[in-house]
Amino acid sequence: MSKPEKLIIDGKRLDGRGAQDLRPIKFKAGVLKRADGSCYLEFGGNKVIAAVYGPREVHPRHLQDASRAIVRYRYNMAPFSVEERKRPGPDRRSIEISKVSRESLECVILQEMYPRSAIDIFVEILQADAGTRVAGINAASVALADAGIPMKCLVSACAVGKVDDTLVLDLNKDEDNYGQADLPIAMTPSGDITLCQMDGHLTEDEFRTALEMAMEGCRYIHQLQKQALIEKYGQMVSPPAQEA
Ligand code: CDP
Repeated sequence: MSKPEKLIIDGKRLDGRGAQDLRPIKFKAGVLKRADGSCYLEFGGNKVIAAVYGPREVHPRHLQDASRAIVRYRYNMAPFSVEERKRPGPDRRSIEISKVSRESLECVILQEMYPRSAIDIFVEILQADAGTRVAGINAASVALADAGIPMKCLVSACAVGKVDDTLVLDLNKDEDNYGQADLPIAMTPSGDITLCQMDGHLTEDEFRTALEMAMEGCRYIHQLQKQALIEKYGQMVSPPAQEA
């Protein structure tokens, strides 16, 4: 699509949202039988699946850490996930996203509980529509909890950006392509920031406001993540107590 003349008309974005609105979000925990934990997420037009394996033996063994579990994160875009076919396999962008996403989650995982083991997180982008790294982190966080990995808390993530000189929550594809700034943020429910990147320029005041908007978005996403886990586990019946 060519650059639209304006991205905000009469206070509304081209997809009809106000500046502070997120796109529709739908989480489903535990969608993969063979993973220890998993989550499917629709975040606007993004369709993402996260699978977690572990804690499990580390291969190759020289990667083992005697004091803690290592965390590995692979972000991968399917060739059919974007308009122009993506060449399969890792590239600079996916390696960078894998690294920062791993770091955004590693800090809440209680790695010391599982020395010499690995926790592997796979994030597959089936359909991309801007904000795939934050969508991946949101799905991975639920998948980790679904796998029973001990964590201090969930991590929630969303992007804030600037388009037509206005700060907007959760950029869509056109806003990402033609906007002035893009600021993906991940945080814990208590507001500790675990990922903060920025493309473009914001003033200091804009940055502060953007952080507040992201915090608001993350709070809402955190509620949805919890709901997805309650939907799966809230109705589980505990096995009857064994007689002595
Ligand atoms: O997805 P995210 O916003 O985290 O990362 P980005 O590098 O800012 O990419 C923004 C968007 O560009 C992606 O969500 C895709 O929709 C699109 N993209 C694409 O069409 N082809 C690629 N090879 C990479 C990204």
